[in-house]
Amino acid sequence: MQSVILAKLITIVERSRSKLPPQVILWGGTGQAKVVRPIIEDCGSRVVAVFDDTPELPSPFLDVPIYCGQDAFERWLASQRPEETGFCVSIGNPHGRVRLRLHDFLVTHGLSPVGVVHPTAWIAENAVVGPGAQILAGAIVGPEARIGRQCIVNTNASVDHEDILEDGVEVAPGATLCGLVHARVNAWICAGATVLPRITIGADARVGAGAVVTKDVPDGAVVVGVPARQLERERC
Ligand SMILES: CC(C)(COP(=O)(O)OP(=O)(O)OC[C@H]1O[C@@H](n2cnc3c(N)ncnc32)[C@H](O)[C@@H]1OP(=O)(O)O)[C@@H](O)C(=O)NCCC(=O)NCCS
Repeated sequence: MQSVILAKLITIVERSRSKLPPQVILWGGTGQAKVVRPIIEDCGSRVVAVFDDTPELPSPFLDVPIYCGQDAFERWLASQRPEETGFCVSIGNPHGRVRLRLHDFLVTHGLSPVGVVHPTAWIAENAVVGPGAQILAGAIVGPEARIGRQCIVNTNASVDHEDILEDGVEVAPGATLCGLVHARVNAWICAGATVLPRITIGADARVGAGAVVTKDVPDGAVVVGVPARQLERERC
């Protein structure tokens, strides 16, 4: 049994390694950058620059320069080979739509999205993981699950069989989606929440930390508690 698990881990690492270009940039210069860099570099690539839209943000790494904004990116890119450069949008939620916008911007400039898969994550062979997704330490992606573009399945989160995560969704640390859950675009399932089988989480909805979701969540709603109840105010 252990050797089967080990073989699958090696397969996942090899799959990631073969896809990574020699150099990668990160867009987003705070905590998520610190999480993804070692995963990327363990796969044989090198993080060469960090970009962020916040002026004067210090680089998260002493050995990697940080630049501010899209103009600075375009100046930097002029001396690089885009076809040898990948990117990872290292910005967590609730910013899934920002990740999607930056993804399109960087693809337009010839860079390729890097899929980040931690070696301790387990992804079923018939699951589909979209471009630029991040599957972090201890996460599980079950059989026939479909993970969209720029999704994050965070540390120890579990996405079970046949779940659908549309683009930009984050399943935060320790959250559990039971089977056949559908999370629409930019939904955010916060730390330690549980979503029962066959539930739909609406676009841009937020499920609070520790909530247990027993019925569908409308678009833009914020739900908290056990069982989860919708907060009065809604988000667009
Ligand atoms: C769901 C969440 C995003 C809502 O944030 P928000 O819209 O700013 O909500 P507020 O903090 O204004 O709280 C609104 C009310 O809901 C309550 N509430 C907020 N989150 C709650 C939770 N997870 N469980 C129970 N009640 C919660 C607050 O106590 C407050 O109640 P009150 O009006 O009686 O005082 C946030 O509370 C949350 O759960 N964050 C977790 C973030 C996370 O998992 N991050 C992982 C990063 S890797």
